[in-house]
Amino acid sequence: MTHNYDTNSKKDRGTNMQDITRMQDEIRQQKEQKNAIILAHNYQRPEVQDIADVIGDSLELARAAAKMDGEVIVFCGVDFMAETAAILSPEKTVLLPAPDACCPMAEMVSAEELRFARKKHPEAAVVCYVNTTAEVKAESDICCTSANAIDVVNSVAEDTVIFVPDKNLGQYAARFTKKTVLPWEGFCLVHERYTPADVAAAKQAHPGAEVLVHPECRPEVIDLADHVASTSGILKQVKSSPNEEFIIGTENGMLHRLGKECPGKRCYPLSEKAICVNMKKTDLAKVRDALTSMKPRVTVPEEVAARARTAIERMLAL
Ligand code: 13P
Ligand code: SF4
Repeated sequence: MTHNYDTNSKKDRGTNMQDITRMQDEIRQQKEQKNAIILAHNYQRPEVQDIADVIGDSLELARAAAKMDGEVIVFCGVDFMAETAAILSPEKTVLLPAPDACCPMAEMVSAEELRFARKKHPEAAVVCYVNTTAEVKAESDICCTSANAIDVVNSVAEDTVIFVPDKNLGQYAARFTKKTVLPWEGFCLVHERYTPADVAAAKQAHPGAEVLVHPECRPEVIDLADHVASTSGILKQVKSSPNEEFIIGTENGMLHRLGKECPGKRCYPLSEKAICVNMKKTDLAKVRDALTSMKPRVTVPEEVAARARTAIERMLAL
């Protein structure tokens, strides 16, 4: 595995291996005492991924939140993911160690805007990406993630779909359906930055490497990829491909898991700049403090949660 990126802040660079091991031990102890499980997204810091019970993409983490035992879920990710866990497991205490870890894309559609769009297109079904607020999920017919967007769009009875908020994922799903997908103007600040020039430069540096990108990338970047998949889909492809070299077009936290689980394969970031600052807000000290104080807790009012749950459970039932 060859990659050269640094997700750590200056303060964290002072954290040595002893501190990391000590904090990881403290977290394991607290986890036992509190009967907690730790879920971590593939973009989390390496040392946070290393203490998780489950590491995964949004779909895998939603499934884990719905079915795993334990009284407490510590969600190492961003706010919409912890909200989804709270909606699916209202009886559990859901902790978000970094309460300011948000997904800017999820703020690009509001419940009010979506109600307006529905009035304008009463014939359309509403498919919401899981990267949305609970209020937006509550206004939607069905939820999707990057791993199942095509299947979800094809599953609705209506011929027209309002897809919120990611225009790139919506357009990507539209390639594989006869339905009319009405675009929304949302995007991911990290994936939107990749350009065809980045792909050309990476291919020149690593000729013969397979190009794997996330469907949040722009269409012109997707067109140049060999394979388009969710974060865990990218991991599966690296594991199963006969190739040895890969260019990875998603947030660079992914490279840690690829390095651990795919020894012998060489993965290069499509861009060194692909860092989601919100995903990096969770560190070991915050995870330990959350478990100690049982705060900050994420809750969703039941009136909103009940409607949002229907949209998420429809997706999980597919
Ligand atoms: P995945 O569901 O593919 O892990 O993606 C989540 C995300 O936030 C991508 O930017
Ligand atoms: Fe949101 Fe993009 Fe960060 Fe994923 S990578 S959490 S979509 S800002």
